Amino acid sequence: MKLSQRITHLTGGGSDGWDVFYRARRMISDGYAVVELTIGEHDVRTDPSILEAMDLSARQGHTGYAMVPGTDLLRDTVAARLQARTGVPTTRNNVLITPGGQSALFAAHVAVCDPGDVGLYLDPYYATYPGTIRGVGAEARAIQTTAEDAFQPRAEQIDAVADGAVSLLINTPNNPTGVVYSSQTLEGIAKVCRKRDLWLISDEVYDTQVWEGSHISPRTLPGMTERTLVVGSMSKSHAMTGSRCGWIVGPEDVIAHLIYLATHTTYGVPGFIQDAASFALNAGNVLEDQIAAPFRRRRALAVGILSAQNTVGLVPAQGAMYLMLDIRATGLSGEAFANALLDTHAIAVMPGESFGSAAAGHIRVAMTIDDERFGSALSTICEFATEIAGRHAAAS
Ligand SMILES: Cc1ncc(COP(=O)(O)O)c(C=O)c1O
Repeated sequence: MKLSQRITHLTGGGSDGWDVFYRARRMISDGYAVVELTIGEHDVRTDPSILEAMDLSARQGHTGYAMVPGTDLLRDTVAARLQARTGVPTTRNNVLITPGGQSALFAAHVAVCDPGDVGLYLDPYYATYPGTIRGVGAEARAIQTTAEDAFQPRAEQIDAVADGAVSLLINTPNNPTGVVYSSQTLEGIAKVCRKRDLWLISDEVYDTQVWEGSHISPRTLPGMTERTLVVGSMSKSHAMTGSRCGWIVGPEDVIAHLIYLATHTTYGVPGFIQDAASFALNAGNVLEDQIAAPFRRRRALAVGILSAQNTVGLVPAQGAMYLMLDIRATGLSGEAFANALLDTHAIAVMPGESFGSAAAGHIRVAMTIDDERFGSALSTICEFATEIAGRHAAAS
């Protein structure tokens, strides 16, 4: 029987760049002690206070259908949080609650792209981006950023490929690079969006994990509130990856449009999860800082380790729970290096190539194990790279 192209086209064909990850998972299930630095899953679980709020809500009966766009309480809480952080007036009518950030990314593209339209995104990218754009029937068009520009996108490069495009997807703080977009970068992006009449889909799921500089939401920039859809999530800020709770914040008419989509797809998010999310967000910065603290510490540890050698380069680690390491001095691709590291030292990292060709010759290291093991794994990575780079230099 024929199956839909909409789904077969999601992966784009070929290797999805996750071979090292699957190999590491197989080694772990075969009993090998692999140091896992691949995916963005916290090493702490959801805080007990949030679980208590979830339990209380469920026991009080919030286990039936919840309002499709989200509970008034959570929509108000998300609106107040964004307004407090950005100064942009925001009400519950600007907010749609979704089952996680990924669902919000998909819904945002459904809201603005028709089949055959072009959706732009930046390379390196979070693994699902091209598939999300293709999934709504649009053409996914990548724009390369470069290690030399510290992976800050250039407005003129976006403008150069924007013919026929209706949307641009950006992510700051960025996964996989750990870069936080500067105000200059965001002003350039906003200018192109206004000139080219583009919707800006701004993935801000790491907005509580900023180690250097500050996070600017492009929704605050002149002429951008009416063309920006902000994607947010409880996953990273509150270690609630499994609760599947996120949102889109945007113009009222877009949210009203999206409620029809939610009615025909998700039919809302469980009420007890939304009550737990409201509780967590209302707990304010204290809880967010507590969840971000291990990554802040490990990032400082990493800067110390990496500055004591000169083989492995560190892409400015300004935010999010990852380090992007430049291993081009070894002469290996990110994929070859990651495979060799797994074979030789049982350390699993993601090849940069898993996130697009712009990150070739890099590896992404998730800072998601305890400080001691993390520091020791990072030192091993540097020693291993230095050894290979020495052989490479001698041979060439
Ligand atoms: C950049 C980025 N956006 C969105 C997501 C999706 O997060 P979730 O669906 O768990 O909210 C992730 C998850 O890793 C991510 O890294």
